[in-house]
Amino acid sequence: MIRAFLATLACALAARALSDSSIAIQDVTSGLWIVSYAAATNLAPLGTSVTQATIFDVAQLATGAFEVLNYETHQFMTADSSGTAPVASTRSQAGTDEKFFFIQTGTNTYIIQANSNGLYLQTIGGAIYNNATEAGASVYTVVTQTAPVTNAEGTLGEVFIEDVASSLYVTVSGSSALVPTTSVRASGAIFKLNGDTLTTIEYLTTGEFVTATMPGNQPLTATAVTPSAWEEYSVFFLSSGRYAIKANSNGLYLQTTSAGIVNSAFSQASGSVYNLVNANPGRR
Ligand SMILES: *[C@@H]1O[C@H](CO)[C@@H](O)[C@H](O)[C@H]1NC(C)=O
Repeated sequence: MIRAFLATLACALAARALSDSSIAIQDVTSGLWIVSYAAATNLAPLGTSVTQATIFDVAQLATGAFEVLNYETHQFMTADSSGTAPVASTRSQAGTDEKFFFIQTGTNTYIIQANSNGLYLQTIGGAIYNNATEAGASVYTVVTQTAPVTNAEGTLGEVFIEDVASSLYVTVSGSSALVPTTSVRASGAIFKLNGDTLTTIEYLTTGEFVTATMPGNQPLTATAVTPSAWEEYSVFFLSSGRYAIKANSNGLYLQTTSAGIVNSAFSQASGSVYNLVNANPGRR
């Protein structure tokens, strides 16, 4: 009796339930990986290898349900209550229809229940619908990917910085100033955020740290060889893909001006909004 209980416990421990992470999803029956991109938002089993899979960031709520955020498009996965519309990633905010339960059936396999109508996801042809009973649910393999930037304060990792208002990515000028100049993400500069509550911003190309002067009257420059208090920043998560950044040097928020990014905004609301886009989503 006790042995059986311990065996069950060991088994339960070995099969780790899904936790907050970045994942790729594979349809077990077809072996195809799920994709959903801006031009075709319905989740579709189309990828023939994991490198083609769309990455989703999953975050668990107190109810046990997960919100599933399409990493590429910053849209939440949604399943409407009728269950007859394809599951898609099309919602900028997560409500009742944008929550899912991942019920583990094997080491990395799950059936997925929509919170909207309590029904299960099933792959039918080229789409996924939330209209199956538990017995009719499709099984999906979930594979954890290298974590992109977390959607929380304390963002870490190597990122492109996008000025949300202009949709331009920050580059580093000849005078080392940070200026949003390019609409092509790959042409943007890559910065490494090294810290947690207070982080430095390291310009990867030169290894120099971004400094924010005390007066806050000139653009940030990537010029400090050794980081000090002037090279520390607080990153605040506002909503998916939207962050505010505060300079530790003078306590002011970053804002984009014609000269570049300056630490001169007296409040979060008057500062600019930036997106921190993971430069290494782990699938390229
Ligand atoms: C689920 O919806 C799809 C698309 O409308 C339909 O083809 C399928 O028969 C439905 N399945 C169930 C069990 O209702």
